[in-house]
Amino acid sequence: SGPDTVSPTGQPTGAPRAAVAQGGAYLTTAQGTRLPDSDHSLKAGARGPVLLQDHHLREKITHFDHERIPERVVHARGAAAHGVFQGYGTATKITKAAFLAKGVETPVFVRFSTVLGSRGSADTVRDTRGFATKFYTAEGTFDLVGNNIPVFFIQDAIKFPDIIHAAKPHPGREIPQAQSAHDTFWDFVSLHTEATHHTLWNMSDRALPRSFRMMEGFGVHTFRLVDAKGATTLAKFHWKPKLGVHSLVWEEAQITNGMDPDFHRRDLADAIEAGAFPQWELGIQTFPDTPDQTFEGIDLLDPTKIVPEELAPVQPIGLMTLNANPVDYFAETEQVAFHPGHLVPGIDVTDDPLLAGRLFSYLDTQISRLGGPNFAQIPINRPHAPVNDMLRDGMHQTAVHTGTAPYRPNSLDGGCPFLAGADTAAFIEAPVELPVAQKVREAPASFADHFSQPRLFWLSMTPVEREHIVAAYTFELSKCYEQVVKERVLTVLANIDPQLCEEVATGLGLSVPAPTEPLTRPDPSPALSQLGRTWPVD
Ligand code: HEM
Repeated sequence: SGPDTVSPTGQPTGAPRAAVAQGGAYLTTAQGTRLPDSDHSLKAGARGPVLLQDHHLREKITHFDHERIPERVVHARGAAAHGVFQGYGTATKITKAAFLAKGVETPVFVRFSTVLGSRGSADTVRDTRGFATKFYTAEGTFDLVGNNIPVFFIQDAIKFPDIIHAAKPHPGREIPQAQSAHDTFWDFVSLHTEATHHTLWNMSDRALPRSFRMMEGFGVHTFRLVDAKGATTLAKFHWKPKLGVHSLVWEEAQITNGMDPDFHRRDLADAIEAGAFPQWELGIQTFPDTPDQTFEGIDLLDPTKIVPEELAPVQPIGLMTLNANPVDYFAETEQVAFHPGHLVPGIDVTDDPLLAGRLFSYLDTQISRLGGPNFAQIPINRPHAPVNDMLRDGMHQTAVHTGTAPYRPNSLDGGCPFLAGADTAAFIEAPVELPVAQKVREAPASFADHFSQPRLFWLSMTPVEREHIVAAYTFELSKCYEQVVKERVLTVLANIDPQLCEEVATGLGLSVPAPTEPLTRPDPSPALSQLGRTWPVD
């Protein structure tokens, strides 16, 4: 039984006991003592001093004083909704994950977010958007913690604090940045050129979504799917919105930020309240799990690379419908804790070094954000599968564990030994063979190409989309104070495409630099020129 199904005396009750804060007909203290009045402090006479012995006054103000918790270190501003996911059954040949079987319905909670702004910042800024989904499956919780852009800035999580520090507000001036309009961001991305691809997407219309309901979502990393017999397939996850992908233009985004900074969260809540439930299809691109983990020359462990959909079509595996708004923003949207390591049998991780850092980071940050190690007991984070763990005590422990022997096997509490032999229903890491290797601090050679996919993206854009990209680079770089940074970014652009570089340089009144890497790569074939536009919308 889970921690929420045990009574304070340790007896299983059989029914969940959520904390009830508004249960009676009259107002009480937190201890349940009935109150006559909540508007007047206890005083020595109507105009006399307030008395310290007023417990209700102290409790009310003390609780208020502690209402705020730290906002997320990134993705602080978010909006969320409840819904349901239904598997199509099309993935069951390659993964045993039960929630993907045909017709299985799984409750979900999805949180959309901007990355850089604080909790009170505006919605329609130029930024990447988070797209995090919690699937409350019968086999445990699966979190798909993705973004609306399919690649990331860096290839190794050890640089994550650096890129975020470079992009967050100026340390002295604390000038908040919508996406990037200051020197440290451009300094970082022009020195760490693996960021070129993500930055180009950020300067495109994709960074100004019209609505959360009209965004794609991407798991970014390559995952490893495992079937019932243990055979493995590599896969990338994609969410495709039924409403199609739509963006604001820059001027609309600016006006909207001024007139309605809550535009995206209002749009999501209003649509759901009106019964216009947004839907996304979940799809996967699949790749053979070969020892080198590459596909068509693309390193599948490099999170700065996509695999064009023309080379590996996205195959639909299920449908998600968001159909209910949260009732309490703090309890649900603020306290929800996603983690890329929340996996279920049939879905495993790969050795992408960015993913490895994430597997550490989310739990670690949530321990301080949510006040200790027991935040899985907060209602929005409780699994819908039975919980039977050997975790004990800790801050904010609300479960009352029974028995005396929290270890297995034991001969005192009688029972629940591990099953003899292989437990086929358990989560078992895919037994991947690893090459014999030396310890090194270096990136693989296959991570070294930083420009061919940005070029592919640029060449896939229509003329008007290119105009928007040029205008975005010109505007954002015009905010830089340091000439040397602008010039270095122009050199990066020269490595992507001469037209892009020239138009941005002209806009900035600077000269056009020569590329530092020859554009020797052949232009992509026409078959690859419609990157990400091939989803059949019905
Ligand atoms: C939060 C996505 C890389 C650390 C988030 C959230 C999303 C996300 C969607 C918001 C979760 C929510 O709504 O509660 C991604 C993606 C990444 C990425 C797609 C790369 C592919 C990283 C890396 C690190 C990191 C490399 C650290 C090494 C964090 C932290 C939070 C966060 C600390 C705040 C979590 C919390 O307080 O609950 N990320 N992230 N992320 N991410 Fe990432």
